[in-house]
Amino acid sequence: MVPFESIMSATVLDGKKIGRLIEEELHNRIISLQSKGVSPHLAVVIVGDDPASHVYVRNKEMACERCGIQSTRIDLEEGISEQEILDTVHRLNSDDSVHGILVQSPLPDGINESLVTDAISPEKDVDGFHKMNLGRLVQGDASGLLPCTPAGVMKILELSNIDVSGKNALIIGRSRIVGMPMSILLAQRGIDATVTIAHSRTENLSEICRRADLVVAAIGRPEFVKSDWIKPGSTVIDVGINRIIDSSRKSGYRLVGDVESGASDIAENITPVPGGVGPMTIAMLMSNTIMATEIQSQ
Ligand code: GUN
Repeated sequence: MVPFESIMSATVLDGKKIGRLIEEELHNRIISLQSKGVSPHLAVVIVGDDPASHVYVRNKEMACERCGIQSTRIDLEEGISEQEILDTVHRLNSDDSVHGILVQSPLPDGINESLVTDAISPEKDVDGFHKMNLGRLVQGDASGLLPCTPAGVMKILELSNIDVSGKNALIIGRSRIVGMPMSILLAQRGIDATVTIAHSRTENLSEICRRADLVVAAIGRPEFVKSDWIKPGSTVIDVGINRIIDSSRKSGYRLVGDVESGASDIAENITPVPGGVGPMTIAMLMSNTIMATEIQSQ
């Protein structure tokens, strides 16, 4: 029998609460911009009808409403050409009333996402995916526009007083949006984690995971990380938001993360799904939009 004392519940890192705090802290900067006649304005481009992307974009629009940021949504049809998407980006680049531009990912098959990202003016690149902004980050300057999800994870760690200096950090997933920039932020001077990036070719992942003091799961597969891979006392950041069929629900589905729910009995700290990383991504997008507006109105 497992002794009662050995079953502990992790501290839940409440991304919704922390995200709202970050949004509230933007208030004075927004007032100050407005007093100079500048109205922060985010343009969101969405191509096609991927239901999850539409939910994310709606959440971004609602955050703009909460913060007092103007938002414009540009819906483009699934079959649109790459050139037409680039034309839309160029038009937004030269519109002085627009301070932030975001093209929701994924784009339909056949569209080169990097080409579209790099067409956005670096100072309007509120996703932080432009090679100029990522290059600055690789050079050790994290003061610019940072990718929102990794920046949100860093904020959760900072505001929850979780020190990863010298610790083993495992990132599962090497995406352009999360895994790769996350690795740079965690390894940067002053944060000083010892970073491992795992991916589909990684051998002995369960063993690597059992040595990790911090796990950032960003692989996009429901409950891929098993509870018995989690080191007692570790921090688990679950970036995954996966829909799985659940006929007992009215919606017909429920959301699960990339980590098995039992991990919360073993880890010391864990982010919930939903309500963990998702709201932090949105709060960092609001923060980037204000930073971009300030840079452009200097
Ligand atoms: N798709 C999933 N996450 C993101 C994000 O942070 N930015 C954009 N543009 N698309 C996404």
